[in-house]
Amino acid sequence: SPSDPDLVERARAAKAKLGDKVFVLGHHYQRDEVIQFADVTGDSFKLARDAAARPEAEYIVFCGVHFMAESADILTSDDQKVVLPDLAAGCSMADMATAEQVAECWDVLTEAGVAEQVVPVSYMNSSADIKAFTGKHGGTICTSSNAQRALEWAFEQGEKVLFLPDQHLGRNTAVRDMGMSLEDCVVYNPHKPGGGLTADQLRAAKMILWRGHCSVHGRFSLDSVNDVRERIPGVNVLVHPECRHEVVAAADYVGSTEYIIKALEAAPAGSKWAIGTELNLVRRLANRFAPEGKEIVFLDKTVCFCSTMNRIDLPHLVWALESLAEGNLVNRIEVDQETEAFAKLALERMLALP
Ligand code: 13P
Ligand code: SF4
Repeated sequence: SPSDPDLVERARAAKAKLGDKVFVLGHHYQRDEVIQFADVTGDSFKLARDAAARPEAEYIVFCGVHFMAESADILTSDDQKVVLPDLAAGCSMADMATAEQVAECWDVLTEAGVAEQVVPVSYMNSSADIKAFTGKHGGTICTSSNAQRALEWAFEQGEKVLFLPDQHLGRNTAVRDMGMSLEDCVVYNPHKPGGGLTADQLRAAKMILWRGHCSVHGRFSLDSVNDVRERIPGVNVLVHPECRHEVVAAADYVGSTEYIIKALEAAPAGSKWAIGTELNLVRRLANRFAPEGKEIVFLDKTVCFCSTMNRIDLPHLVWALESLAEGNLVNRIEVDQETEAFAKLALERMLALP
C-alpha cells in the first residue's frame, strides 16, 4: 500500500534536520514504507557490521527487531545511542531462550560430565543475556550467513556444540552443509527436566540443539515445496535456513536474506522462483524483478509476515525521528555494561571468523 504522503514528508524533513547525526538501518523484512528511509539495508550480519562502522552517528535508528538493536548497542561506542522505533518489536524465537533456562541447561551439561567439551554457538536472534553467556563460556555468535564457519570454528575449540536458540539453523547447517547425520543432533527442551535428555544421549551427541524455532519460517512445509513444484514446472525453490529440515532438504538453494537477494539479482531472465522467507521481502523482490522477466512467488499460499518486524511502521519511524530532531531521546536500547562486555566478546569472535 502506498505510504501516507504527509508522513513521508515529515520523515524526510526530520531526517534532513538531523543530517549526519542519525543513521538509519533497515532489515530486509521491514515494510516498504519504512525501508525507503534506510541509509543501509541488510541481513542481520551486514547490519551488525554497518552499525559498528558509523562512529560519527550520534543516533542509530534501527528498523528491525530488539535483538538487532541490542547487538548494535553492544558494537557501537557508549556515547552512540541506538533507538528502536517501537519497543514491542521483539522476536518470538529470541524469547525462547531465557538466561535462567540457559544457566539451568549448563548445569545439566555439567552434571552429565560434558560441559567441558561443549562450545556454545548462539544465533544472532537471541537476547544480549544469551550472547553474554556464550562469550563467558568461550563461544561465538553466528548469523544465517556464517553459521557453517562458526560451527567449524567451534569444533576446533571443542567436541560438542550447544546451538541456541534455533534448532533448525543448527540442524540444517550441521546436516546439509557439514555432513553430520541427524543422529548426531539431539534437542534440548528447556521445559522438561534435564532437557528431556539422558546423560548418555548428551555424551553421544555432537550437536545439542536448543528447542527454539521461528514461527514465520515454521509455516513452510514439505507440502508447500511439493505443491509449488507441481504448480510451476521448472521453479527454483529458495528458502531461508530457519525453515524446517525437510523443507531445506527439498529446496534447491538455502541462504540468508542477503543471499536470497543476490541469488535473484544473478538469476537469468525467464527463470522462476519460489521463495521461503518473510512476505515483505518476497513481495518487494517480486515487484523489483518482474520487469526483468523473473517470476517470483511466495512459497506458501498462506500470508506470512513477521508480525514483530511489522511493528515498525511509518508512524513509529516518524515519531522516533521527529523526537530525536527535537532533542528528545526516545526508545533507547541500552545493554548494561557487564552483559555488554561478555556479549561483545562473543560478537567479536563472530566478526573475526575467516
Ligand atoms: P537474516 O540474517 O538472514 O537477515 O535473518 C534474520 C532473521 O530474523 C530471519 O528470520
Ligand atoms: Fe524472529 Fe522469525 Fe521474525 Fe526473524 S522472522 S525476527 S526469527 S520471528
